[in-house]
Amino acid sequence: MKSVVIEEPGKLVMQERDIPEPAKGEVRVKVKLAGICGSDSHIYHGKNPFAKYPRVIGHEFFGIIDAVGNGVDASRIGQRVAVDPVVSCGHCYPCSVGRPNVCSELQVIGVHRDGGFSQYACAPEQNAYLVPDSISDEFATTIEPFTIAANILSHLKPTAQDIALVYGAGPMGITVIQALKGVYGVKQIIIVDRIPERLTMAKECGADLAIDNSNLSLVDELQKLGIRPTVIVDGACHPTILQEAITIASPAARIGLMGFSSDPCTITQQGITSKELSIFSSRLNSKRFPMVIEWMAEKKINPAKFITHRFDYTQVIDALEVFEKDQKHCCKILLKF
Ligand code: NAI
Ligand code: MN
Ligand code: ZN
Repeated sequence: MKSVVIEEPGKLVMQERDIPEPAKGEVRVKVKLAGICGSDSHIYHGKNPFAKYPRVIGHEFFGIIDAVGNGVDASRIGQRVAVDPVVSCGHCYPCSVGRPNVCSELQVIGVHRDGGFSQYACAPEQNAYLVPDSISDEFATTIEPFTIAANILSHLKPTAQDIALVYGAGPMGITVIQALKGVYGVKQIIIVDRIPERLTMAKECGADLAIDNSNLSLVDELQKLGIRPTVIVDGACHPTILQEAITIASPAARIGLMGFSSDPCTITQQGITSKELSIFSSRLNSKRFPMVIEWMAEKKINPAKFITHRFDYTQVIDALEVFEKDQKHCCKILLKF
């Protein structure tokens, strides 16, 4: 089989490998489609602190189960599945309180172990979620990025009366906006970014108001408009954003963070406590695949508005280049295997 391997930072090769045998408790997936994510590009360029090399990248993938390991019911062969990349131990403290996404022994497929940019990939059977026929192959490939939105929004618990503000109209901001609108029915959604084309896409995905903050103070602009967001999601993840979010938040608001920057940021206790703000962080997803599959089956979210490009897997280098250089027009790229 062919696999996309990052041999070392900066060196991507298309490698011929043996088709893997599923271990005990695992299924083997014949991969049909995979999505490109920022973290694939980060591993490629040596910017992901968790990655070990050589590594088959790819953690957003869909395919058909074609073999099972010991202990797995053979009736699963032939199932259409989306694979949850979060592999957890099941017995540590975070696992025992339903937070396997921060398992003490967390292994992410495509980061800590070989991933889905390959003609075949193995995963624990409980990570392979059956996709109903009503969800297309392409849509199923986008379940994983929507689980990131599902996870952070499960912390923030938006309601119809919220005024939500989302920083960043990249793939993460777009999935969050679609869910805020289609699943939670939030009253008003504001998107903030610096790329006009991305702001336009965010509006097409449910944002009511788009603010380009490249040349203005967001604090002043919101004050002028009389808007105090009650739910804020940082999908841009610059370290300076948290203090600004604290400043613009309504009293009793909730703020959700997704960033992994190791740079320090300065915030004041007074800003948080005087408004009794709640600040949540969210990493990957804690078993949110069933939730997103339901959203898709009920057409509450629309991945068609999120998928912008398609490439054959043999063109992965070109695809990564478009992904990294054309932020204006690129959101989710799918690779066909
Ligand atoms: P992206 O880089 O495609 O999008 C970020 C967007 O934020 C860009 O459109 C950029 O113009 C905008 N932006 C940057 N600084 C801004 C600012 N100060 N104000 C307003 N907009 C600003 O990235 P993507 O894929 O959407 O991911 C977003 C972030 O989420 C990344 O930092 C990534 O590491 C993180 N992430 C976290 C996950 C988690 O589980 N916690 C999972 C996936 C991504
Ligand atoms: Mn991803
Ligand atoms: Zn664990």
